[in-house]
Amino acid sequence: MDIHGAGAIITGGGSGLGEATARALAKRGARVAIADLARSRGAEIAAEIGGDAIFVETDVTDEPQMTAVVDGAVQAFGGVHILVNCAGIGSASRTVGKNNEPFDLGLFTKTVQVNLIGTFNAIRLAASRMADNEPNAGGERGAIVNTASVAAFEGQIGQAAYSASKGGVVGMTLPIARDLARHGIRCCTIAPGLFETPMLMGLPDEARKALGATVPFPPRLGNPTEYAQLACQIVENPMLNGETIRLDGAIRMPPR
Ligand SMILES: NC(=O)c1ccc[n+]([C@@H]2O[C@H](COP(=O)([O-])OP(=O)(O)OC[C@H]3O[C@@H](n4cnc5c(N)ncnc54)[C@H](O)[C@@H]3O)[C@@H](O)[C@H]2O)c1
Repeated sequence: MDIHGAGAIITGGGSGLGEATARALAKRGARVAIADLARSRGAEIAAEIGGDAIFVETDVTDEPQMTAVVDGAVQAFGGVHILVNCAGIGSASRTVGKNNEPFDLGLFTKTVQVNLIGTFNAIRLAASRMADNEPNAGGERGAIVNTASVAAFEGQIGQAAYSASKGGVVGMTLPIARDLARHGIRCCTIAPGLFETPMLMGLPDEARKALGATVPFPPRLGNPTEYAQLACQIVENPMLNGETIRLDGAIRMPPR
């Protein structure tokens, strides 16, 4: 699918992997809407991208807010053709803690709410408008890219909630691709390993280097532009559909 001239929504576009993707899509001629929380740098990034890039203050778990993003993008760009889901949160807690206390169910619910349900909320609302697009010569009306994590496959100690949320994203990728096939809309998921984003930039230099050295090759943290490059390729390559692609330098996470 052609990126040039397409309308694109990037959730979590105010930071890290989403920011890099918003910039990469805009560079290739897409018209981008950054959907992120009010406290994010989304407005700043949209202004830096310039042109007709917009920021829409959004909580992806909120139905009216996510509907407003999709409506806003259709109005501003004449249609939505691309959705990249990067909004997400981390959480760390053991199923049973050091003092035998059970995992806080509120934290578990919140993690699944944002990472899994928020992703699906964006997909269903964006896809229902993509279905109105005129198909291109290949019959395509839209492309969706989600973000899981290698934690969907090798969750570490303390990652029960995060892994459950990302495993859900992996699990729904194929059925969504199948559901949307009749509409000419594709759906793929990227499962990143360790990427150098604000999530990890809080760590001291030494710790980041040590983390990077655990990656077989290249032995470093991933650059968000490398995630963005794959997101663009998924949009452009019509045979990529219903699949989760690991982007991880061959890392396989140990228990801790
Ligand atoms: N950085 C990594 O190494 C890595 C590895 C695997 C997976 N991931 C996943 O990639 C995605 C992006 O991560 P990142 O490293 O760029 O993180 P980040 O914290 O830099 O960016 C995440 C963005 O999502 C936004 N967000 C959070 N909750 C939201 C909500 N309810 N509604 C709208 N926006 C919301 C935040 O405001 C932030 O701008 C996340 O889903 C994360 O789990 C990251």
